[in-house]
Amino acid sequence: MPGDGIGRAVLEQAIRVLEASGFEADYVEADIGWEFWKKEGNPLPQRTIDLIAEHKIALFGAITSKPKDEAFAELDDSLKDKNLVYSSPIVGLRQHFGLEICARPCKAYQGNPLNFIRRNADGDIEEPNVDVVIFRQNTEGLYGGVEWNNPDNEVYNTFMTHPKFRQNFGKVPKEEISISTRIFSKERTENILRAAFQHAKDFNYKSVTLCEKPNVIRETSGMMYKMALEIQKNDYPEIALWNTNIDAQMMWLTKNPEDYGVIVAGNMFGDIVSDGFAGLIGGLGFACSAQWSKDGIGVFEPTHGSAPKYADYETSIVNPIAMIESACMMLDFIDEKEKATKIRNAISKTIKEGKYRTYDMLKMRGRPDVIEKGACSTKEMADAIIANL
Ligand code: NAI
Ligand code: MG
Repeated sequence: MPGDGIGRAVLEQAIRVLEASGFEADYVEADIGWEFWKKEGNPLPQRTIDLIAEHKIALFGAITSKPKDEAFAELDDSLKDKNLVYSSPIVGLRQHFGLEICARPCKAYQGNPLNFIRRNADGDIEEPNVDVVIFRQNTEGLYGGVEWNNPDNEVYNTFMTHPKFRQNFGKVPKEEISISTRIFSKERTENILRAAFQHAKDFNYKSVTLCEKPNVIRETSGMMYKMALEIQKNDYPEIALWNTNIDAQMMWLTKNPEDYGVIVAGNMFGDIVSDGFAGLIGGLGFACSAQWSKDGIGVFEPTHGSAPKYADYETSIVNPIAMIESACMMLDFIDEKEKATKIRNAISKTIKEGKYRTYDMLKMRGRPDVIEKGACSTKEMADAIIANL
């Protein structure tokens, strides 16, 4: 699923790297994204859902999303009277296939000029070794879509039965109330916790940090914390369980990022903390992700979007590493770990050598002239990685 914008450019290069690594596969292209919203009124056509159900493993570039009104304006005229409402095909995929586990590794490559640095007590500069994997619950919580603006009477009256609601919002006119819920289910909470502990065990991380806010959000974060304690005690006694609050964690991640191993969180806090850690290892050009369901459907994608500004450049300038790393996660998932390691080593060598750097790694502003100024193109970066395989 190349999708839109730079999604197409980075996926093309990731497939070249996969092929060069000796991984043999047939690639079936599936439609997703803005073009299909405009033409068909559906950014996630049924034929794409059928293809994923059939093949089970998908590489995904990125898609473009736009606000409601713009989405309607760009819809084909013949579809404008059909009451269609745009909704994100990514959220659609997650919900449809129950892609409830999301893993986002943030591991610093030595020699990456974008790595986080700090001063030590002697005033010298040091670069902490960041090697963290965030496990994010991907389908529930605050992104679960259970929301109201000016709720109908039944909903409003039900909320009015809650003493805190009456106390804090009872005098606010109903029309001025917006509600977004944060619902956690026990089964899915357990699934994300177990995935995190198992990953820590499989890859020798010493700790799992639950990053929530159980002292304030007592029912959801509180339930998750209690369950984490049980799971740790019964099944993973050799792995330490740490409990941090999301706000404090965002401060600590720049003070002592090297202390953390696996981090587990609900949907929104997982989203936030993973972007925070991604910033320490080079940002969007390096942030990869995997999401999968209990029954083995996996979708692998970079965290970045379609960066439409850069989509039409004659020579693509964006960094393909996040996409290539996501492809490595796919290889891990289907037990082709040797090839994944080979590719990661080639990326590592390429970064360490420092001969090829995309514009983001050179802290340039993304413009077509970055190539003249010494940045490499998307394809040249992939070529360099292939050469190092
Ligand atoms: P974005 O991630 O597309 O781009 C933000 C900025 O980050 C870019 O302008 C560029 O400077 C940099 N950047 C992103 N990827 C890069 C790469 N591989 N190499 C170097 N630099 C890179 O986010 P933005 O601009 O907020 O959204 C653009 C579109 O993408 C929107 O329509 C949005 O809805 C969509 N989007 C899609 C996502 C997905 O498909 N998973 C995720 C985030 C946004
Ligand atoms: Mg995000």
